[in-house]
Amino acid sequence: MTTKEKGFSTSAIHHGFEELEQHGSLIPPIYMTSTYAFKNVEQGAARFSGEEPGHFYSRISNPTVEILETRFAKLEKAEACVAFASGMGAITSVLWTLLQSGDEILIDKTMYACTFAFMQHGLTKFGINVTQVDMTNLDDLAKALLSKPKLIFFETPTNPNMRLIDIKLVNAIAKEQNTLVIVDNTYATPYLCNPIELGADIVVHSATKYISGHGDVIAGLAVGSHETMQRVRLEGLKDMTGAVMTPLTAHQLMRGLKTLNLRMQKHCENTSIIASHLATHPLVEFVYYPGDTNNPYHLLASEQMRGFGGMLAFTLKSKSKNKLQTGIQMMNQLKMIRLAVSLGDAETLIQHPASMVHSACSPEERQKQGIDDGLVRLSIGLENVEDIWNDLKQALDKAGN
Ligand SMILES: Cc1ncc(COP(=O)(O)O)c(C=O)c1O
Repeated sequence: MTTKEKGFSTSAIHHGFEELEQHGSLIPPIYMTSTYAFKNVEQGAARFSGEEPGHFYSRISNPTVEILETRFAKLEKAEACVAFASGMGAITSVLWTLLQSGDEILIDKTMYACTFAFMQHGLTKFGINVTQVDMTNLDDLAKALLSKPKLIFFETPTNPNMRLIDIKLVNAIAKEQNTLVIVDNTYATPYLCNPIELGADIVVHSATKYISGHGDVIAGLAVGSHETMQRVRLEGLKDMTGAVMTPLTAHQLMRGLKTLNLRMQKHCENTSIIASHLATHPLVEFVYYPGDTNNPYHLLASEQMRGFGGMLAFTLKSKSKNKLQTGIQMMNQLKMIRLAVSLGDAETLIQHPASMVHSACSPEERQKQGIDDGLVRLSIGLENVEDIWNDLKQALDKAGN
């Protein structure tokens, strides 16, 4: 191989692994070990002190997981990566590392319900002040930043209502106050967006979603500078959460990464077609999809992302019943599309945030987050797009009667 910078797919398949150093094994071995033998006491001491690189206990590092970490850092254009047992493991380990009692943080007004619960109901128990601000409103954000919070945290696109936040602009304002910027890039994936390139300090992922892509693992990843990720590994992961990724999960994620580009292209293509079909159905009130040229986030999505992604949400009109009842009726009529939480899988998944993932938020909290109780979220899969649409259409037609 030449030293020329490799493309996304090449890195997703090869980066960080030399087969010939591993008996020629094409696929990285799965090191199912919790601990590592030292040559002598001196070596053990050197490993513990960090003087000698190398593994000493799998709650801190593991050779299989390390290959995934090296590869994923490359794809996210970051210096370093740490892997976790779940997306929540990544988020909590990063924040427990960086925060202390008395700190203030700013979070966007919409986010995945468990992240929101961790921030608003978890961190606040330990003396951390959490303020919600609409990060699409840069004036409001600039005002909130005047108090110099420790960090700001947001998703883009947001789960579940597809708001987009301008990573570059938010970062520029935050840097004036020395505030760290953390972005949850789960919806976009590094195939469509690299927040680090746009100035973010740390990027977190639920790798359970598109990175795995096959609905068979729970996993998380975080990337950032060498220094910060080392702190996250040795403080948040090792001593505070212990949310360690297993070597088998790392193997499954490396398998997922090999097809991330192909899957994302197909997710994007199918989603664009379904969004335009939905927009013409008489029962559909509004489609939340940034690929639509009339969507308020279309321009930003075109600049910030390399495609519009595989997620959308929509609300339904209702004649006699309320919107929520119409939505429930529609979802109960689906035959192929699976009624399930999570996203980014080969299977098209539909869920109703107000009664499922965001039911943990109070109606007031949902309203503040801009989550309509009639909102339906769709993760468009890799099935033939006409089959996805036929199923949706028959369910919409029935619910409309
Ligand atoms: C945007 C986002 N971030 C984080 C998470 C949490 O990830 P996990 O379920 O892997 O813990 C999720 C889960 O749905 C999510 O959608």
